[in-house]
Amino acid sequence: MSSDQRFFDFLKERIGLDVSSVGPAIIERAVRQRTAAQQVETSDEYWHHLQGSREEQQALIEAVIVPETWFFRYPESFATLVRLATKRLAEIKGMRALRILSLPCSTGEEPYSIAMALLDTGLAPHQFKVEGLDVSPLSVERAKHACYTRNSFRGQPMDFRERHFTVEGERYHLSERVREQVRLQVGNLLDPTLLADEAPYDFVFCRNLLIYFDQPTQQQVFQVLKRLTHEDGVLFIGPAEGSLLGRLGMRSIGIAQSFAFSRHSAPTPEPPTFIAPPLPVSLPVRNTAPPTVRSRPFATQAPAPAAPRSFDKTPSTDAAVLLANIATLANEGKSLEARAACEDYLRGHGPVAQVFYWLGLLSDVAGSVLEAQGYYRKALYLEPQHPETLMHLAALLASQGDAAGARRLQERAARNERTADSERKR
Ligand SMILES: C[S@@+](CC[C@H](N)C(=O)[O-])C[C@H]1O[C@@H](n2cnc3c(N)ncnc32)[C@H](O)[C@@H]1O
Repeated sequence: MSSDQRFFDFLKERIGLDVSSVGPAIIERAVRQRTAAQQVETSDEYWHHLQGSREEQQALIEAVIVPETWFFRYPESFATLVRLATKRLAEIKGMRALRILSLPCSTGEEPYSIAMALLDTGLAPHQFKVEGLDVSPLSVERAKHACYTRNSFRGQPMDFRERHFTVEGERYHLSERVREQVRLQVGNLLDPTLLADEAPYDFVFCRNLLIYFDQPTQQQVFQVLKRLTHEDGVLFIGPAEGSLLGRLGMRSIGIAQSFAFSRHSAPTPEPPTFIAPPLPVSLPVRNTAPPTVRSRPFATQAPAPAAPRSFDKTPSTDAAVLLANIATLANEGKSLEARAACEDYLRGHGPVAQVFYWLGLLSDVAGSVLEAQGYYRKALYLEPQHPETLMHLAALLASQGDAAGARRLQERAARNERTADSERKR
């Protein structure tokens, strides 16, 4: 029953899920679960049942989706949104409310974070509206319920929680004021008629979904995202997804750690910076901290000359700034500069997995498969559970025909997910 291509094809067609991105094990487990739940014996029987039942099709989709999300994930992007939203309101002279889309919105943390950030910066409720869509009706229902546990709050500080939630035991209920700003509905990004009657959005958030699609699906979806994003609007994506957008003619707006792209072909020149605009909200900054440096005995590459920089910061801030700089350069497609920044980092701070991961990714994108593998392996040597590296090396091995190697890494990533999750909560 395992490795049944029919199920892989079904999920690919319905939600775009590419089996090599998550590994067959996750899909096989979901099929096993649903087969048992339907009390049928064989995959053939389950397949027939699946064909005749929309309800079961949805149940299988629910069993494979990754609803992982939390409030103010990538905090700099919300700081950037606040700044751009104020500017945009001035441009449209307050003639209409700002239109913001969160797709996929999962269980609501992302669209509600958008609403909280804008209310906290002083925007009036009538000045903006947020729409959240997700293919999972269960997640959308949870989002509408707007009742959360500690798992949705990661990072510090938590002052937004005090402002917008009431606590009841272990549950946090979001205020009506924030909920009223957000409209939630079920929607599939693969649906060509999705939001066809809607005017384009000033800001579109599409984060941590594209990584589960293969390239042709990404291309197809980018056209939809382009249609949904206003000509003068901005598209926010996930950190691993930036290099994909460049190929479509969208450009990074040049603000570090925001992963924000504009439809205009000329980039807005802005130096990479960690300095967030003044916000009444102190956004959590967990993922800007430099990774722990572990000293392991192996030689890094000879450092290449890097562009001179003058960061007047403490050493740890300097490391964080350099990492942000690498991410920005890589996401902007500035491979040479990104590589130089990586070498710069290694020279100044020693070997860390995150930097080898970036080097691997840069080599991967450039088509240097062996070099990419070497960097990815160095990253895993330093940090055997580095999630992005596990995912990218698995995809690379799969594309090289090493299905067994890819599967091993995918299983390792799946095993590590729970541990990483509990670490994040600490
Ligand atoms: C990892 S969550 C991302 C949530 C949020 N954007 C974030 O970054 O925190 C991925 C979500 O994508 C949704 N999803 C998967 N395929 C989809 C599709 N084809 N259309 C819309 N949503 C989809 C899943 O249901 C899941 O809730």
